[in-house]
Amino acid sequence: MTIPQLQETIERLFAAGPAAVEDPAAMDSFLALRAAIETGAVRAASPDPASPTGWRVNTWVKQGILLGFRLGVLEELPAVGFSFVDKHTYPARHFSVSDGVRVVPGGSSVRAGAYVAHGVVCMPPMYINAGAYVDEGTMVDSHALVGSCAQIGKRVHLSAAAQIGGVLEPVNASPVVIEDDVLIGGNSGVYEGTIVRKGAVLAAGTILTRGTPVFDLVNGTILRATADLPLIIPENAVVVPGSRSVSKGKGQEWGLSLYAPVIVKYRDDKTSLSTALEDLLR
Ligand SMILES: CC(C)(COP(=O)(O)OP(=O)(O)OC[C@H]1O[C@@H](n2cnc3c(N)ncnc32)[C@H](O)[C@@H]1OP(=O)(O)O)[C@@H](O)C(=O)NCCC(=O)NCCS
Repeated sequence: MTIPQLQETIERLFAAGPAAVEDPAAMDSFLALRAAIETGAVRAASPDPASPTGWRVNTWVKQGILLGFRLGVLEELPAVGFSFVDKHTYPARHFSVSDGVRVVPGGSSVRAGAYVAHGVVCMPPMYINAGAYVDEGTMVDSHALVGSCAQIGKRVHLSAAAQIGGVLEPVNASPVVIEDDVLIGGNSGVYEGTIVRKGAVLAAGTILTRGTPVFDLVNGTILRATADLPLIIPENAVVVPGSRSVSKGKGQEWGLSLYAPVIVKYRDDKTSLSTALEDLLR
């Protein structure tokens, strides 16, 4: 089946709703899509210079991933290659299908339907969800999450506990995109379709969502998501977690501050040195 044929079939099956489960073509189409994502032949979002964000959402791919959940039934999964030792009075609970509890495998796990390129390093525990794309030479450090459909570029460092949110639904919503050579510092979170452009650095503890204004001290501008565009962190920006005082109402009276990520500079030699040190950890 060619990719355009696969796209057509998946769009038809998605439009069919719950009835798709009965369609004999459904499982084969889903498995073909899953395999194509795993080879990198198709992606949930692709670079597109013609689009205002530089990225195009491939809605049909996300529809196909959702179709996979619709078609899936619960089954027991063997835990291959693990051995555990603990007090015999507290063994691991065993669940079976009849319990109706879904336990997703692994301290570290890469789910089928994710693309993980040659040279990616995964430190346990970490998780890469379906539809994600993780490009060459990227480090996914301990406790890092690459959410469903997130697009991670080449030589990205997702530091310990970095959380890259998944955006599966709505199907036309842009996933989070982290472009090449970005450093996402420890305990950072990037959510809700935010795009982090090439070479940018998020200092440890930076959280970005659609609703987070980002204060660019270098250019004197405030970056925000709009109705049409997600929050976009510019190329080579160095973003650190800051705060801003509330300027009105009770917040001002009470002397409150709100969290405010700040672009303190654009990448320079010192930044490259700081991030190069991180590279040594690979
Ligand atoms: C952002 C980072 C890379 C530093 O980049 P840098 O280019 O060397 O930054 P500089 O030291 O020149 O700092 C520039 C300004 O930002 C401030 N700054 C730097 N890092 C900051 C941080 N994490 N939080 C708040 N402010 C910070 C500096 O104080 C400086 O401001 P000043 O001139 O008013 O003092 C570093 O702070 C960082 O967070 N690294 C990631 C660490 C990490 O998560 N490692 C994970 C290992 S698994």
